[in-house]
Amino acid sequence: MSKIIINADIKKGEINKNIYGNFAEHLGRCIYGGFWVGKDSDIPNVNGIRKDVVEALRELKIPVLRWPGGCFAEEYHWMDGVGDYEKRPKIINVHWGGTVENNHFGTHEFLELCEMLGAQPYICGNVSSGEVREMKEWVEYMTFDGLSPMSELRIANGREKPWRVPYFGVGNENWGNGGNMRPEYYGDIFRKYGTYVRNYGDNKVFKIACGPNADDYNWTDKVMKIAGPFMDGLSLHYYTIPGDFFKGKGSATIFDETEWFTTMKKALYMDQLITKHSAIMDKYDPDKRVALIVDEWGTWFDAEPGTNPGFLYQQNTIRDALVAGINFNIFHDHCERVKMANIAQAINVLQAVILTEDSKMILTPTYHVFNMYKVHQDAQLLSFEIKTSDYECSEEKIPKITATASMSSEGKINISFCNLSPLDDEDILCELRGENKTKLKGSILTAENMNDYNSFEEPNKVAPVKIDDVNINNNKFKLLIPKMSVVTVTLE
Ligand code: AHR
Repeated sequence: MSKIIINADIKKGEINKNIYGNFAEHLGRCIYGGFWVGKDSDIPNVNGIRKDVVEALRELKIPVLRWPGGCFAEEYHWMDGVGDYEKRPKIINVHWGGTVENNHFGTHEFLELCEMLGAQPYICGNVSSGEVREMKEWVEYMTFDGLSPMSELRIANGREKPWRVPYFGVGNENWGNGGNMRPEYYGDIFRKYGTYVRNYGDNKVFKIACGPNADDYNWTDKVMKIAGPFMDGLSLHYYTIPGDFFKGKGSATIFDETEWFTTMKKALYMDQLITKHSAIMDKYDPDKRVALIVDEWGTWFDAEPGTNPGFLYQQNTIRDALVAGINFNIFHDHCERVKMANIAQAINVLQAVILTEDSKMILTPTYHVFNMYKVHQDAQLLSFEIKTSDYECSEEKIPKITATASMSSEGKINISFCNLSPLDDEDILCELRGENKTKLKGSILTAENMNDYNSFEEPNKVAPVKIDDVNINNNKFKLLIPKMSVVTVTLE
């Protein structure tokens, strides 16, 4: 039996809705076949963008979408992707399978997609194979309202009014594929390139620096020291990989309890990473002006057998749903510093929320977690105390239940729980202090087996079930959190 006391009168900060962001890279079938099918496709689309995925993502209230990479961003030259389709050059997508990139999805298409989704664009610029002038002109092309060579080009290409581009990343993984830079060098690169990411009119750009890979604390320290005052955000990339990145990450669908446990443990590690990076940031930025932006996170398994290994296509089980819930609970806990997160990636790549196969589309267990947690967007994080039993496996233990609680602007209290054990259900006694609520409803996402997933043949195998109106007496209630489940309840 676990116990949780929610202190509804102690608010710990706002959960920025951008924590529920997504990421779309020119990788495998994320853009082509995922978002984009082209105007002549039989698959229903608006100007080439799939209608079904837009509708599904609108339901999630995706607040922000990162593009065009990832590694691809550091090879991308934006001029290739504007103007007449027939004249756009075909390039090789060297990072991801060596496929031909025809540049049909470019700046206009991405920004139009964001408008359809109601999501804010977060564009990642190229600082390793691209020049300062190129980045400067891209920002001018998209956001300048007056007359200039770039705004005239934009107008000639069919867009009269500038777009708003609130978020701009100055490089991606510059410690690795993005130029193999040292943090001292990157710190200066950020200062130089960032200078030319200009604010035109009232388009104020939030500039995000390339942050560390997982536990590279030295990177955070040096970059904050050199470039901290010039940036608005610092990114962090961390993937949950049960195996070894190079020797075998593990299968997305065929795994035993030990691999399940390792996955949970490695997902929980996000808390330590954020805590330690935040402590370093505090040294240079005690007022927490600079946000930590976890702009790549999620599971990374071996690609599905029979698929192009460079496409990073993986299935998505109830285990992925738990990884999503665990991460959201952690991001909420750190809402003072973590202002955005972007799961990798939206469609058909890594821990996708949507999978497509030609005209078919399915929603993954991860999609359902995003949907269940959207009630926390922009809500006030509430303080709580939890006592939970351990989940033990191979003489190691982790907490069985992780949780989060928030109050929405209408005064509803939303609580989410993750039961990390694939073996045992858990009763939890809940007590609400500082508020009176009399009714509870919600939903539960679980599965029969720990490797259950939604396939094109069985698209609803893992889907949430509703908890109907339940009366609450004296602000106390008991919930059963099934094994391997994510649960969200709303108290009114
Ligand atoms: O998301 C896949 C890749 O992972 C991204 O392109 C890169 O930034 C990271 O290494």
